[in-house]
Amino acid sequence: MSSTPIASKIIPKAARAHLDPTSIEYTSDKQRNAVAALVQEFTVTPQLLKDIKDNFIGGMQKGLKKDGETLAMIPSYVMGRLDGTEVGSYLALDVGGTNLRVVSVHLTGGGHINTRQTKYRIDESLKVGDAKALFDFMAVCVDSFLDEHEIVVRGDSQIELGFTFSFPVLQTSINRGTLISWTKGFNAHGLVGKDPVAFLQDAFNRRHVHVRVAALVNDTVGTLLAYAYNHPETVMGVILGTGCNGAYIEKIPKIEKWKGGAIVDEMIINMEFGAFDKERTILPLTMFDNKLDRKSVNPNKQILEKMIAGMYLGEITRNILLNLIDRRLLFEGNVSADLNQMWTFETAYMSTIEADNTPTLHVTRKILESTLSFSSTTLNDRQIVKTVVELVGKRAARLSAAAMAGILEHTGAWKQKAAIGIDGSLFEFYPSFDTDIMDGLEEVFGSEVRQNVSLGLAQDGSGVGAALCALLAAKHASKDASDN
Ligand code: BGC
Repeated sequence: MSSTPIASKIIPKAARAHLDPTSIEYTSDKQRNAVAALVQEFTVTPQLLKDIKDNFIGGMQKGLKKDGETLAMIPSYVMGRLDGTEVGSYLALDVGGTNLRVVSVHLTGGGHINTRQTKYRIDESLKVGDAKALFDFMAVCVDSFLDEHEIVVRGDSQIELGFTFSFPVLQTSINRGTLISWTKGFNAHGLVGKDPVAFLQDAFNRRHVHVRVAALVNDTVGTLLAYAYNHPETVMGVILGTGCNGAYIEKIPKIEKWKGGAIVDEMIINMEFGAFDKERTILPLTMFDNKLDRKSVNPNKQILEKMIAGMYLGEITRNILLNLIDRRLLFEGNVSADLNQMWTFETAYMSTIEADNTPTLHVTRKILESTLSFSSTTLNDRQIVKTVVELVGKRAARLSAAAMAGILEHTGAWKQKAAIGIDGSLFEFYPSFDTDIMDGLEEVFGSEVRQNVSLGLAQDGSGVGAALCALLAAKHASKDASDN
């Protein structure tokens, strides 16, 4: 059991060991020019960062006006804030990344949370098979979790569950919605246009699992709620992991398309910002990004996500390396069988390569030779690989900064003390991702932003957040009942 997991952490991770491309001993002018061209293509200049931020704010405003815009700006039906005094026990099911997690969450008041969780790996075939089979698998996992943790449901009672389903879902109530599209390599058929909660509840009912889906939550919304439980000044929840997205607190009068009532004056908006710039008007897309997009299961969708998220950075890097190999500017024109396969260059390797501060880059060598089966590499090869990795990683962090700056400017939140809770492997493990984001924010707002805005790791926020959302749903339900 772990206690109070949603604390801001100082992350003990490595910093980027920057390699200055001008210090490389190039093997030819052609190689030097190729690297210089990549540096130019992948650098997000301060001016471009600001232009993207402005364009992003325009997208937010459009999405708040009507449905169907590129930035979906989905009202989450989560109203009101938590203050840490809440108590209760809930179950959470978190689906949307590599693993599925079942979490039992016990809120003991005073900002304290106890959690127990089990992770289950989702087989690739389930991700692209029949949706019903995927939801049956979810019900089986929850059932076995209840067994494993000896959680007994008596009589006709049901356990309340918060369901974190981290895909673009247009919500129609706190526990209803329709899937707009799949992302992150999922493509199970039969769910687009339908309600994931109905599928899950049906799977529970068929298996006689006594669980009621009380709330449907995006992971960004969960992260925001979880972080706010002990950081009341939280204004935003962000995921920088397999996918990317953000949620923030909006004033209801600014959500022009919102036709529902309101018990308070603000609501959390799930932005679905990974979909930004579908029109390809502002993002600095390269041929390597285009190749990745064309070969993805969702071409022409999630354009910003494909430049930022952990699922994709390794593949962009692989595309660049292959191009340099084909031009005989790297590894003497030879490719290893492993690097020749899609998705083999993992984003986790990039984290390791970024942190490699050895003079001979022997950590990078280990990845290339032991993991990716290159028979030998030269120092020059390794330096080029490291430079490419740095370019792709830094661009991702600076594009994340542009999006976050857009939200901070739109809400004016940067002018006062504001906390941003962030979850996901990139933010947690990727060297200097946090400092790159902060540098980007400073370029937009000036140094004052460092005093006001803090970025913190909201580890496992989405699971806890789903439980908090189930709690808020119960609060609203009892308020509605007493009002009637
Ligand atoms: C999904 C979002 C989610 C994000 C992070 C994206 O692919 O569309 O709903 O918040 O990934 O998990």
